[in-house]
Amino acid sequence: MKKVGVYPGTFDPITYGHIDVIERSLKIVDEVIIAVSGFKKKDFLFSVEERVAMIKEVFKNNENVKVESFDGLLVDYLKKKNLKIVIRGLRAISDFDYEFQMVLINRKLNKEIETIFLMPREEYFYISSSIVKEIAKLNGNISCFVPKNVEQALRKKFQGG
Ligand code: COA
Repeated sequence: MKKVGVYPGTFDPITYGHIDVIERSLKIVDEVIIAVSGFKKKDFLFSVEERVAMIKEVFKNNENVKVESFDGLLVDYLKKKNLKIVIRGLRAISDFDYEFQMVLINRKLNKEIETIFLMPREEYFYISSSIVKEIAKLNGNISCFVPKNVEQALRKKFQGG
């Protein structure tokens, strides 16, 4: 049976750090569904449709990567899809508390879910979508942090082209 993992996040926007985690996860599962959360817990630069479209473009040649959005709780999304494996990236130690909390709460809500943590390459340890947006806003070079289509989308948002 095909092993399917769900990689949830806000991806505002996707970065090479996320992509590294997705590529690593494909060594463990057969298919990854990138689940883009539309729940507005922070101000988004890109709409959920824009975020999904950008990720689809990045993985257009990889049939083992699917991209979807979801609005409610992650556990409800997993239940609806009948999926039980969650993939998360673990970067600096500062991620640990939040990830630990998420795992325990999700487990409380649905004890069948298992979370796999993967560490991205060291050079992506300190990237976050916010830092990339800040650099792009200040017209800095972001080509080492995000793929070309994401770079173009950021330039369009901040510099109008
Ligand atoms: N490389 C680069 N950056 C990474 C990264 C990686 N491997 N992993 C995470 N990040 C960045 C993200 O871009 C994000 O940056 P930002 O805060 O500047 O935007 C930051 O680290 C936090 O990312 P992440 O930990 O993935 O959180 P998130 O806010 O993107 O996603 C959800 C969290 C969506 C998975 C979680 O809130 C959720 O499941 N929500 C649904 C509602 C729910 O079920 N709530 C109960 C949860 S217990």
